[in-house]
Amino acid sequence: MGLFDKFSRLEASLDGLRQYSARFFNVVLDEIISSTEAIIDGRRTILAGTNNYLGMPHRKEVIEAACKAVREQGTGTTGSRMANGTYSIHVEMEQELSAFLKKGHTIVFTTGYAANLAVLSTLVGPKDIVILDADCHASIYDGCRLGGVQVYRFRHNDLDDLQKRLHRLSKKDTNILIAVEGLYSMLGDRAPLAGIVELKKRYGAWLLVDEAHSLGVLGEHGRGLAEEVGVEDDVDFVIGTFSKSLGSVGGYCSSNHEKLELLRFASRPYVFTASSSPANIAAARAALKLIVEEPELRRKLWDHADFLYGRLKEMDFILGPEPSPIIPVRYKEIPRAFAAWNRLLENGVYVNMVLPPATPDGTALLRCSLSAAHSRQQVEKIAEAFEALRGI
Ligand SMILES: Cc1ncc(COP(=O)(O)O)c(C=O)c1O
Repeated sequence: MGLFDKFSRLEASLDGLRQYSARFFNVVLDEIISSTEAIIDGRRTILAGTNNYLGMPHRKEVIEAACKAVREQGTGTTGSRMANGTYSIHVEMEQELSAFLKKGHTIVFTTGYAANLAVLSTLVGPKDIVILDADCHASIYDGCRLGGVQVYRFRHNDLDDLQKRLHRLSKKDTNILIAVEGLYSMLGDRAPLAGIVELKKRYGAWLLVDEAHSLGVLGEHGRGLAEEVGVEDDVDFVIGTFSKSLGSVGGYCSSNHEKLELLRFASRPYVFTASSSPANIAAARAALKLIVEEPELRRKLWDHADFLYGRLKEMDFILGPEPSPIIPVRYKEIPRAFAAWNRLLENGVYVNMVLPPATPDGTALLRCSLSAAHSRQQVEKIAEAFEALRGI
């Protein structure tokens, strides 16, 4: 038995999928033109699958801040936050995030994945319970696994199912943490947060909301779904990432609980990895400033989202439950999804192809994500490229 033998099933299923699209397995963006366009296969292609909701990676202010940080502070910190890797910019970013999110404490991590791993694996242990939405991101599941906590899933966005689990598990007299996302990354739908908060209070549970896809996207000031719903004070732990609307790399947890600071000493994904580079932090800080200064970016993003969702709906595609900057076009048959994805790419539109088991209920998704940096003309082109899929 070789170490790689366990991958034989995976290998066979990849070989099976290759017949539908050899291209799918090695998409390379050969030249980045802007936040919304790249050269792929020698063709100018509209990027509609990037999580780049606000176009920050190509904003002059963000690029300048990153370049200045490299010139002044070097390319990497070469150390963990607990050792030599905490620079003044990490601390300033934590203060700025706390002020923006109106929370008492923030810890910045090297990625959003590390933030979930760090917070969940440290806060909850084998004697505690996490009840999470079945569609939660892998980093939430992995954080639970690292902490050895008992995990129970409730059906996606199903308050009755959550209530049933809380009712049964609250009899165990142990800590219960509910973990959900703000905007879900695959279906683009919001968590029913008002109802979740009501249940959290009724059963004396704790609540963690991962606003990775909703920071800068939801809420009057862009603070996320909790702001939109008016329940920010009821969320115990907010998780976020710099890798989407902030156009950088990094992650954070914000909370009003004073003892959050203890996680710095207890959490392995904080202690045992290098901190985010100065350029990453500087870029995220500049982007956060733009989120505050330019609420019109959010309005433009939602205009695009409503427009494309409406157009695709008219074309009778099966979509996610609500208009959103994440619009999944769903296919029951995987070969059809591949044919559609190939055709879109040939017509100069890149979207994410997502396959089971990463998708809910075993369907394949062509996941479109929009950006405030898209022009209306580009969004119309995306719609036209989908229109050209008729017959597939
Ligand atoms: C909900 C959610 N949480 C966390 C992450 C991880 O973020 P990062 O890319 O910063 O590691 C992602 C990334 O896709 C995500 O969708």
